[in-house]
Amino acid sequence: MTAIDPEKAVEVKPNLWWIGWPDYDAGFSNNPYLLIEGDEVVLFDPGSRFDTHWGWVKKKIESIIPVSKITMVVVHHQDPDLCAAIPLVEEEIGVNNFEIVTTERTSLFIPYYGVKTEVTAVDDGESIEIGTEGRELLFITSPYLHFPGAMVTYDTKEKVLFSSDIFAGFSLDWSLYANEYYLEAMKVFSQPYLSDTRHVKNFLRKIEGLDIDMICPQHGSILQGEIIQKAIDTLRDLEVGVWE
Ligand SMILES: [Fe+2]
Ligand SMILES: [Fe+2]
Repeated sequence: MTAIDPEKAVEVKPNLWWIGWPDYDAGFSNNPYLLIEGDEVVLFDPGSRFDTHWGWVKKKIESIIPVSKITMVVVHHQDPDLCAAIPLVEEEIGVNNFEIVTTERTSLFIPYYGVKTEVTAVDDGESIEIGTEGRELLFITSPYLHFPGAMVTYDTKEKVLFSSDIFAGFSLDWSLYANEYYLEAMKVFSQPYLSDTRHVKNFLRKIEGLDIDMICPQHGSILQGEIIQKAIDTLRDLEVGVWE
């Protein structure tokens, strides 16, 4: 597998970049993504506000497009490793000069970070059209995985599932794309962080009909090809909600 330069944004699909930071010591990568379609510039799960973290993310965005061009921030739940940097995004762009999209339950917590921009709440199955070519971001709620108001996003054009903490992994041996060890890394993350098997099964039923070409989780590695089905099968049979 080709090694990537973690200091650089990596284009994983046309106009879709991984702009995250691997924390090799903790075995914990954080994976914000940037998607550009026409005039729409969408930032998924911006991340933490540590200088080192947001510093990397900002530098990577700036290597593609000025941060001020971001039009939408999608957050999949309210955890600080996704949301704490939103006020820093606001400092760059200005309050209410971009849209924040999440579920209603999550929207209640976003202001707790000091965010002043109004939050757009979306329902399960709702989509937002981006650009002018009919590309849609479809939002699918994923209750209790691992927060009641959690959701994921499906990009209808490139068939990418932005899966947040589902399909996420912990690994000291991190690679941008999932390798043969990734299912183990995914188990290590999923057992303590995903709440209950019935919620996992419910979620997997909801995504059953989707044609998924790539899964972009918020931690761990990007999945494409055969490992997608293996990961789905692994999660379906995994005992979760376990912390020993
Ligand atoms: Fe989380
Ligand atoms: Fe997370």
